[in-house]
Amino acid sequence: MTRFAPAGPLRGSLRPPSDKSISHRAALIAAMGEGETRIVNYLEAADTVSTLNAIESLGADARRFELDSGLNYLIEGVGLRGAESSSIDVGNAGTLLRLLPGWLVGQVGREWTLDGDDSIRRRPVDRIAEPLRGMGADLSARDDRLPPLEIRGAPLRGTTYEMPIASAQVKSCLLFAGLLAEGETRVVEPVPSRDHTERMLAAAGADVRRDGDAVVIRPAERLEPDWIVVPADISSAAFFLLAGLLVPGSEVVLDQVGVNPTRTGILTILERMGAEIEVEPRGEHGGEPAARLTVRSAALHGTEVGGAEVPLAIDELPLVALAACFAEGTTTIRDAAELRRKESDRIATVSEALNGLGGRVEPTDDGMVIEGTGGLRGGAISSHGDHRVAMLGAVAGLASSEGVEVAGMDAAAVSYPGFEADLAVLLGSGA
Ligand code: S3P
Repeated sequence: MTRFAPAGPLRGSLRPPSDKSISHRAALIAAMGEGETRIVNYLEAADTVSTLNAIESLGADARRFELDSGLNYLIEGVGLRGAESSSIDVGNAGTLLRLLPGWLVGQVGREWTLDGDDSIRRRPVDRIAEPLRGMGADLSARDDRLPPLEIRGAPLRGTTYEMPIASAQVKSCLLFAGLLAEGETRVVEPVPSRDHTERMLAAAGADVRRDGDAVVIRPAERLEPDWIVVPADISSAAFFLLAGLLVPGSEVVLDQVGVNPTRTGILTILERMGAEIEVEPRGEHGGEPAARLTVRSAALHGTEVGGAEVPLAIDELPLVALAACFAEGTTTIRDAAELRRKESDRIATVSEALNGLGGRVEPTDDGMVIEGTGGLRGGAISSHGDHRVAMLGAVAGLASSEGVEVAGMDAAAVSYPGFEADLAVLLGSGA
C-alpha cells in the first residue's frame, strides 16, 4: 500500500516522461529502417523497454548514445523485410502486441510468436487478425481472439478496411502491413484517432496520405527514419494537470508536452469544465508539435463527453471521471466502450475506485455518469495492475479530505517509473 495524503499546493515545473505511443512507433519504425536511426528522448518505461527487447530479438541493434540530457538510442535497423524469426514477450504492452504483427505478417518464410503477461492475455487480437487475414496474412490466436498470437509470413495484397471502431493501434497495424502489400491499402476511420504512425512513416519516406476519412499507404522498398525526437507524453502530463487543477493554490508548468491535435482532447474537455490551461508552443520535431502547459487550480463544472472526442482523450477519460467528482453538476461519458478493453476494464475499475473514495459514479455499458459532489473523502483503492488507475488513485489522494491508499502502485512503472519522485518535486518535498 502506498499512501497519498491530502497535500498543500503543487508548484513548479517539470518535463513529464516521453510519449509512450511515439516511443513504441519510433523503435519499430527504426527497426524497419535501413542503417542507423537516432531516437532522442526515448521513454524508458516497462512498456517501451518491451519494444526495445522485441526489436532486438528481430535482429535490430539498440544502444544508448549521449546527446545533451535524456535517454537516446541509436538503432541499427534490419530493413523492412529483414526481421528474424523469434518468440517475443510483449510484457504488458498492448500497443506492441497490436502494432508489431502488421510489420511481420508480410515477411515470407519466417515465423513469430507474440505473448505477454496475464493482462495481455486478456487483450483481444481479433481486431487486427481479421483485417490482416483479409490482406492474405497467416496468423492464429488462442480461441481465435487472444494471445499468444502466432504469425507465419505470407504474401499480402492491399485492401480497403472500414474500421468498426476508431483505433490507432488497428490503423497503425494495417498501415505497417500496407508497406509490404501489393497495391494500395486504405484504412477508413469512423472518427480520427491518434496519427503518430502516419506522421512518422511520412517523415521516413513512406507514401502515406490522408484522403477524406481514409488513410492511404502504398508499398515501400525502404524506410529511412534518420532522427526521431520524442516529446513528453500528454497522457502522463494529464495526472499533474489534474493535481494542479484540484489541489487549491497550485500552479504547475509542464514542459515539452506533445500537443498533436489527435491527443489533446483532455485539454478541450477540462477547459469546457472550467479549467484555464495556458498552451505556449515550443516547436515541432518530425511533425509532432510540443508546448509548455501551465495550469492553476480552478472550480469545475460537469460536462458531456462522447462521439469524436472520445479517441482524442481515450486514455485520459479516467481522469475526466476524477475531475467530475470534484465538479459541480453531472458529467456523462459515453461512446467509450473501448475503455473496457484497456490494461483493465477501466469503466469497472475507475467506477469502483472512485465510489470507494466517496464518489457517485454509475458505470454504463459505454461510459460513466458522475454526480459531482465537490470533492472526495478518500480511502483505499486497488490499481488492478493498471498504471493509469494507480496514478489516478495518487492524484485523488492529494485532493481528497482524508487521503488515499493505493494497492499496486508499482504498476505506474508501465508508463511513468518516476511518477512518485516527480510528484514529490511538485509538492516541494523532493530532491
Ligand atoms: C494507442 C492507442 C489507443 C490507446 C493506447 C495507445 C496507440 O488504443 O488507448 O493506450 O499508441 O496507438 P486504441 O487505438 O486501441 O484505442
